[in-house]
Amino acid sequence: LYVNQRARTLYGITDPTGLDVERYSKKITLLTPEGEPYPPRKLPTSRALREGAVTAREEIQVVRPDGSRIIVEAAAVPLVSRNGTVIAGIGVFDDVTDYKRVEKILERDKETLERLVKERTDALSATKQELERKERLSEIGTLAATVAHELRNPLAVISIIVYNLERKTKDRPELARYYADINKKINQSNRIIDNLLSFSRIKPPQFEAIPIYPFLEKCLTETRKKYSEKPVHVKKNYTSLRKTALEADLFQINQIITNVLANAWEAAPRRGGRIRVAGRKMNGAIEIRISDNGEGIPREHIDHVFKPFFTLKSKGTGLGLAVCREMIGLHDGTISLSSLPGKGTTVILTLPEGRRP
Ligand SMILES: Nc1ncnc2c1ncn2[C@@H]1O[C@H](COP(=O)(O)OP(=O)(O)OP(=O)(O)O)[C@@H](O)[C@H]1O
Ligand SMILES: [Mg+2]
Repeated sequence: LYVNQRARTLYGITDPTGLDVERYSKKITLLTPEGEPYPPRKLPTSRALREGAVTAREEIQVVRPDGSRIIVEAAAVPLVSRNGTVIAGIGVFDDVTDYKRVEKILERDKETLERLVKERTDALSATKQELERKERLSEIGTLAATVAHELRNPLAVISIIVYNLERKTKDRPELARYYADINKKINQSNRIIDNLLSFSRIKPPQFEAIPIYPFLEKCLTETRKKYSEKPVHVKKNYTSLRKTALEADLFQINQIITNVLANAWEAAPRRGGRIRVAGRKMNGAIEIRISDNGEGIPREHIDHVFKPFFTLKSKGTGLGLAVCREMIGLHDGTISLSSLPGKGTTVILTLPEGRRP
């Protein structure tokens, strides 16, 4: 085995004569790029000797006698005598340690860079979506407010005319049911206008402390009155909130709860309707669940119920839940809905009890 000066330095062989190479070579460990012991049979020189052919470049990790490591790329050429027998193998080694180190750093930097770019892109597209949503909402809001205002006045005029007609035709009782019909339609239209307006009025909440227990009681009483033609059995389960106050916008929180209650009432069956309102505290948040035993929501519609103007009701505006979602978002809360078709629906609201500083 002959080893030239450059290779001796490379391998950390300190004997300047190079005569004791055999002894030194026992102190050198060769590893594969993965760090496994390099199989001696696979070493380029062994293969060149055995196969009599030039080998491709192989990467080899070398652990030198002093424990330091280098990476070499090795290839070997067989030395063939005139009659064709292989008499020697010549191994050539390139120290690629620095190159590999740089390559590793570059690789790591590339990964970091790619990750950073991806993170930024994700954040940007989320912001963009949020912006687009806000823009769309404010456009819808402006449109809703305009339409609502434009309709309010003619409706008010119609309402006065009906009132006067009713008074002037007191002697014709057969007309009464027509007036009743007109008044019903006027009320319905006003409700739609209210909804449109509340949608356009979605703005930063004015926070105040709201005692949640009496507030829920009031919402229930009012909704019950509004739907007096459909009595339902209400089960209340929120006594644990008796002493709890919620930091929220009173107008908005009222919209949220009454919209959800209205949906529950509208969904409840005419006979045997049941609604359950449950509330509890849960790590700094207040959770309110409103369940009904109505028809539920068909699976194919469940993803759409929070979209503005989505409705399956002949007299709905489809703004109730859209308003809820926007307003609850402004309170850093969440609203979710689960429904078992044929069994009923549960809406879960969570609201942070206090406001974040
Ligand atoms: N508790 C519920 N049970 C069954 N379906 C529901 C319930 N809540 C909401 N939905 C469905 O979601 C749709 C959207 O509800 P949302 O409150 O936004 O509008 P709406 O009730 O149709 O109209 P509006 O609230 O303006 O009167 C409803 O039309 C209904 O199909
Ligand atoms: Mg509704």
